[in-house]
Amino acid sequence: MSERRAVCPGSFDPVTNGHLDVIQRASRLYDELVVAVLVNDKKKGMFSVDERIELLTEATVGCPNVVIDSFSGLLVDYCRDRGIDTVLKGLRATGDFDYELQMAQMNRELAGVETVFLPTNPEYSFLSSSLVKEVARFGGDMSRFVPTAVHQRMMRGESRHGE
Ligand code: PNS
Repeated sequence: MSERRAVCPGSFDPVTNGHLDVIQRASRLYDELVVAVLVNDKKKGMFSVDERIELLTEATVGCPNVVIDSFSGLLVDYCRDRGIDTVLKGLRATGDFDYELQMAQMNRELAGVETVFLPTNPEYSFLSSSLVKEVARFGGDMSRFVPTAVHQRMMRGESRHGE
């Protein structure tokens, strides 16, 4: 039987505990889960792509079938180049749904790539990278929302990449 593989794409600026929950649960459903960080030249972000990859790699050491990578351009082109036909996305709440559905249908139209949605653990349904950054910017405690290494870097001010 061929290997079941999926790609979990995102900005991951930075990776949160909500992302990690989805990645860990999804990794049990596939032989290999590729977590792919979008390289977006138009948006610098708080962490560089290399930092995001480093932090994701560290946070997923306990998941041996998770591979961290980056991509630019269309997700479906990345999927084609890697021979992956499934996109795995976490869904937090109904607010996510409209745009996620549009992207899923577009990716299927463009290249026959299917999208599988995994409901986020309700514990993390309010959590987003943007909110974590905002809380941190104003000195709020976001230690329980992100992996320790992310928290440490944000506290040390090592995450002044672009914001
Ligand atoms: O974490 P994000 O920012 O919500 O992730 C969005 C992402 C990276 C999954 C999405 O923007 C994407 O797939 N971008 C790649 C460009 C692309 O393929 N666009 C067309 C989508 S139909």
